[in-house]
Amino acid sequence: MKKILAFVLAIAMIASVAALSACSKKDDTKKTEETKADTNVDIAKGETAAVETQALEFEDDGVLTMATNAYFPPYEFYDGDTIVGIDAEIGKAIADKLGMEFKIEDIEFDAIITGVQSGKFDMGMAGMTVTEERLQSVDFSDSYATGIQSIIVPEGSPIKSIDDILKPGASYKVGVQLATTGDIYISDDLGDEATSRVEEYQTGNDAVAALSAGKVDAVIIDNEPAKSYVAATSGLVILDTEYVTEDYAICFAKGNPLKDKVNTALNELIKDGTVKTIIDKYISAK
Ligand code: ARG
Repeated sequence: MKKILAFVLAIAMIASVAALSACSKKDDTKKTEETKADTNVDIAKGETAAVETQALEFEDDGVLTMATNAYFPPYEFYDGDTIVGIDAEIGKAIADKLGMEFKIEDIEFDAIITGVQSGKFDMGMAGMTVTEERLQSVDFSDSYATGIQSIIVPEGSPIKSIDDILKPGASYKVGVQLATTGDIYISDDLGDEATSRVEEYQTGNDAVAALSAGKVDAVIIDNEPAKSYVAATSGLVILDTEYVTEDYAICFAKGNPLKDKVNTALNELIKDGTVKTIIDKYISAK
């Protein structure tokens, strides 16, 4: 599956480069140039048409490759050298149901969507929130879990809710994981001030470490990882307020028919209680 999609994208890129160079040539006044350019445009059109028909040809290589960012307990984290967690186990259960081998790749969170789009990975599963903006770039499965954006602060912090961070005149700095919804929401809410007040880190761990070190005043991150980080770090607390609630789902390249297969498997696993058992194993119901 991966190779074909990459090939298709390569053609799409060649086609658009051809189209671009054709356009720029078209600006030239010489007749001969124009004729040449028109030929190029035709070739470009032909290639684009081929791309459209080929785009749906996803080859099944028997391996389900899941891209994640494995510093997000209890959804994905390292146990020694192995990536474990809710997403890792649900992903494996889906692969088993589909009779596919299963492979997890740990990459930067902000590279998951582009990696899936380019065909490098079959799917992205990373406690990833479904957002309108992401739906422009990828397709999502049905949701298998919900998340809440929480706020972590040092014990005794004057910050009691998101309003304290957002109120006029406030200058608190907020740490987030780059390109996560926590990053997107607070950056939107702070507007122009985001540049000086939002610190983006590659992992949630890094953001929490910065909070412990006093480099930021709060961290905005999904509630379950927040609980894990706070349990592992002394002197931090999670505020008893919710910033945003959201749905987690698995993302796929647009038009990838694997999405429907995975979705069917996922729904069966939700129905027969497997997903709940996996979630309960990692999140003790309190
Ligand atoms: N739910 C948030 C989002 O989709 C954060 C996900 C971060 N996941 C991770 N594996 N690091 O943006």
